[in-house]
Amino acid sequence: MKKEEAMQELADLRKKLNQYNYDYHVLDNPQVSDYEYDQTLKRLLDIEAEFPDLVTSDSPSQRVGGAPLEGFQKVEHRVPMLSLGNAFNEEDLRSFDKRVRNGLETEDYSYICELKIDGLAVSLRYENGEFVQGATRGDGATGEDITQNLRTIRSIPLRIDLEEAIEVRGEAFMPQKSFAALNAQKEENGEAPFANPRNAAAGSLRQLDPKIAASRNLDVFLYGSGQWETNDLDSHSGLLDYLEQQGFKTNKERRRCETIEEVLAYVEEWSAKRADLSYEIDGIVIKVDKREQQDELGFTARTPRWAIAYKFPAEEVTTKLYDIELNVGRTGVITPTALLEPVRVAGTTVQRATLHNEDLIREKDIRIGDTVVIKKAGDIIPEVVRVVTDARTGDEQEFHMPANCPECGSETVRLEDEVALRCINPSCPAQLVEGLIHFVSRNAMNIDGLGEKVIMQLYKAELVHTIDDLYKLQRDKLLELERMGEKSADNLLQSIEASKENSLERLLFGLGIRFVGSKAAKTLAQAFDTIDRLQQATVEELVAIDEIGEKMADSIYQHFQEDKVIQLIEELKTVGVNMTYRGIKPQEVTADSVFTGKTIVLTGKMEALSRPQAKEKIEALGGIVTGSVSKKTDLLIAGEDAGSKYDKAEKLGIEIWDEARLIEALQE
Ligand code: IVH
Repeated sequence: MKKEEAMQELADLRKKLNQYNYDYHVLDNPQVSDYEYDQTLKRLLDIEAEFPDLVTSDSPSQRVGGAPLEGFQKVEHRVPMLSLGNAFNEEDLRSFDKRVRNGLETEDYSYICELKIDGLAVSLRYENGEFVQGATRGDGATGEDITQNLRTIRSIPLRIDLEEAIEVRGEAFMPQKSFAALNAQKEENGEAPFANPRNAAAGSLRQLDPKIAASRNLDVFLYGSGQWETNDLDSHSGLLDYLEQQGFKTNKERRRCETIEEVLAYVEEWSAKRADLSYEIDGIVIKVDKREQQDELGFTARTPRWAIAYKFPAEEVTTKLYDIELNVGRTGVITPTALLEPVRVAGTTVQRATLHNEDLIREKDIRIGDTVVIKKAGDIIPEVVRVVTDARTGDEQEFHMPANCPECGSETVRLEDEVALRCINPSCPAQLVEGLIHFVSRNAMNIDGLGEKVIMQLYKAELVHTIDDLYKLQRDKLLELERMGEKSADNLLQSIEASKENSLERLLFGLGIRFVGSKAAKTLAQAFDTIDRLQQATVEELVAIDEIGEKMADSIYQHFQEDKVIQLIEELKTVGVNMTYRGIKPQEVTADSVFTGKTIVLTGKMEALSRPQAKEKIEALGGIVTGSVSKKTDLLIAGEDAGSKYDKAEKLGIEIWDEARLIEALQE
């Protein structure tokens, strides 16, 4: 066969196979037999084997999974991947509707209701028509590059008919059938089955070897977009229809609802019908349809105001509570945990549930030996809902929190205004170990290879008592520990060494100052730059910082007055732990720019800057960028093809600039 002939035939075969794929996986409507598909694919593979340089990245042969990866690359989302606020009942949905009505200038709005697919959110990026990057949501700002695995999902087109760069977003999931087959196979191999299709989908997409993902028969539904500069579709329903036209798979069960009553009816309908679906859903997503109205409603810090997720109620089951166990945490709080006869709930076997504190035990009148109803709160954390009092025999025993710490025996106290019982012995071993576990944890110093077990080992072997001891560990001593080989010891020492270079906020969070979470730790690190300056800060200086309240300020101040803490920080400095902030500073706002204090709206397509870039720059210069034009708008910046916002601004007599004028002002 000549190369020209091969080229021609390959193009034909690819076109055919893409169509077969689309009919089968997107439309659920195969037009050819499996045999014919296989024969066509085989012909393609044969020719590609003969002419390897003619293999293209979007060839249907490239879905089977390439070489395994070493690890996943990080992907910074150009537009954050947000999550949704939750509604759990009719009342929540009605208040959402009220908020929408109050937030809009008109009562003329409608919703699109969609099934909430129980999988994991993914973002797909296309450049010049080619699928170039697929990412997980991660923390919303940064995800992981799982392109290779997503390429194996046959309903994801590898090529579309659009030149411009676009990002589409949706949910990757494992259909019930694939899930059942996978678990049957796992059981046959003597492996632990996946708890539910969501875990199975997530587990499959986090495989470094794409061949595994390819064998898992995953699927996807697209329900939104990410970065897409020229997207001028004026409604969410329009976007979904457009995505469908471009060959993307969307969910057909979506429905436009004109009123909240119609939304409630949709919710009720699908609550009853969900079991009939061939994939799992965990709720209903309700979105305001018109883009302009979405813009008008805008976002809170983490979620859009124009959409909400209704979550189906959690499954409830009964089981026996046979004992209550006590655990001492990092701050000395003693928490009671219910020990339960193992029972399956929402896909996993549950045998423990936190009881939080004594007040809650009293309130629910929980006794040892009771039959209890449990559920998983947010479908994750097991919780005792109530006691089945009818099942009582009289042998049940009331439970009282102990007068002494179960770990160190010292007296327990209940501080004023607190429901928690505490051990206040600063040398309580349980507290020290929990403090160490917190210090090395992912959001704190993130020291790999130092899990709970190793920390316990180190503590028991008297190698580590306080945090600074971690930095004094010696290789030969480590090697004496059980199950600690040379490689693990070296890796561990390397991770500990690397943690010395962490930016200050990790250390601050790791110190476990009461009320200081990882977000507050970052705020503090940005504001004070070095630990010395933070240590010297007065309560007044601390509360002057946005987001730091009085209670937290007091706690920080007190923390740094403690001799033990002062000594610890000195020790950590001596061993070389970094004590300064190394991250990005929030943009400093210039006092007097043309943008200062002005409310500005961006619209249309920009040439030199993307809209998010323009927004960032304007905000750095003190402007406030909002999504929709109203009487409060001071300035509209209009790129090419500006639509309704331009007209509205003109009508309201608002100043309008073009992109060139913006660039000029930014340069000034
Ligand atoms: S819209 C800006 N639509 O539910 C919000 N989400 O917190 C974009 N999900 O993380 C989400 N089905 O993974 C949307 N039809 C649907 C969905 C859906 C499932 C997931 C998504 C998101 C979570 C909501």
